Amino acid sequence: MQLETYVIGGFVRDLYLKRKSKDIDIVTIGSAIELAKKVSEKLKNKPQVNVFKNFGTAMLKYKDIEIEFVGARKESYQRGSRKPIVENGTLEDDQNRRDFTINALALGLNKSNFGELVDPFNGINDLKNKIIRTPLEPDITFSDDPLRMMRAIRFSSQLGFEIQTDTLQSVTKNRERINIVSGERIIDEINKIMMAEKPSAGFKLMEETGLLKIIFPELLQLKGVEFINGVGHKDNFYHTLEVLDRIVPNTENLWLRWSALLHDIAKPATKKYSEGQGWTFHAHNFVGVKMIPGIFKRLKLPLNEKMKYVQKMVQLHMRPIVLSEEVITDSAVRRLLFEAGDDIDDLMTLCEADITSKNPDKVKRYMKNFLVVREKLKEIEEKDAIRNFEPPVNGELIMETFALAPGREVGIIKDAIKEAILDGIIHNGFEEAFAFMLQKASELGLTPKN
Ligand code: CTP
Repeated sequence: MQLETYVIGGFVRDLYLKRKSKDIDIVTIGSAIELAKKVSEKLKNKPQVNVFKNFGTAMLKYKDIEIEFVGARKESYQRGSRKPIVENGTLEDDQNRRDFTINALALGLNKSNFGELVDPFNGINDLKNKIIRTPLEPDITFSDDPLRMMRAIRFSSQLGFEIQTDTLQSVTKNRERINIVSGERIIDEINKIMMAEKPSAGFKLMEETGLLKIIFPELLQLKGVEFINGVGHKDNFYHTLEVLDRIVPNTENLWLRWSALLHDIAKPATKKYSEGQGWTFHAHNFVGVKMIPGIFKRLKLPLNEKMKYVQKMVQLHMRPIVLSEEVITDSAVRRLLFEAGDDIDDLMTLCEADITSKNPDKVKRYMKNFLVVREKLKEIEEKDAIRNFEPPVNGELIMETFALAPGREVGIIKDAIKEAILDGIIHNGFEEAFAFMLQKASELGLTPKN
């Protein structure tokens, strides 16, 4: 069998960019399914070939590489689309229907042309000049698959490339078409933007093209500065993006990055001006926590412990700052440790990213105070082990000691012990807690049963 065959798309692009890539796309002028079966026979252990008959494609996994085989086609190349393909085409037809010139590069795999580059749109030049450009008229490429508008922005943020003017203008023009794309595919792209080195670039492009207003209006709401009596507040959109960029070098945790993006999300909803206080955003952290489930649901983000973690970060995001502005007491540190638990380090990372003041003295002061907070946190944790607080005297022991049934009194005593530990009145240990329990119970008129 001598089928004309090429490796194409992301793999070739990443090869030139010296980026790692796990998927290989193979395009052939003929039956992709036949080709995949023949390739499998030649490979060690003959990996299983998954055939997608309706699409005329096949896939096999070799080690941890996924190799996908497709026949060259005239129709748009749409992975994940339900539309079956019918019309076979030439390599050039296939390249025409790809999203960007840098993703349309093909390398020959036959003996006669092995390693030869087929590049009808000068994608190599765009790779060199760091440009994202569609191979055809951008309106055609984007109407074939409107997700590509998001992909343009994602590749631009991931690779640090610029979107060529006509291509970018076409995104602005066609933005409403994003509405026909599934939320799952959109959030995949947003998450890739979040994991890029400079996610702000992607969000700024989304804002500029009008996609942000359609996909994520709450974020756009943060934009702008209002003045009353000559007093303005900071532009929370750019502040948020700065916080996001600042947290990137310190965490690969997507959800901590989401926490940075959402930490001030309720500022517009809580904004107030008063003569005495100027601009305030009272309780914006709590209101933010309430907004998050709606945002996560609409954006198809997980409604599980990941979301709860983001809520916790948003709720607590001002605490270390407030703490560092006052005399740092042990009991305040203990309370923070108790509430943040194992996520305390992430919270500190978020807080440090949140200091975006342009005043270097102020930044210095905050950073110094944070160091003190971090040290205090360590010291208190070593002494009192509050991080994963388990009450040294639990409800069962209280009930047993005073022959109580479950009820209000048990709760009161348990809470009082916890508060006493957090306030530093007693240590986080059994003996002191037990003595404290006896004292608290006697105040309630209870006596031990024997
Ligand atoms: N492609 C396309 N239009 C899409 C999706 C994909 O034209 N909406 C084409 C591109 O040629 C792309 C190839 O299919 O290079 C493979 O797509 P995919 O695996 O989604 O992306 P990659 O380019 O490999 O990049 P990444 O792995 O970073 O997603």
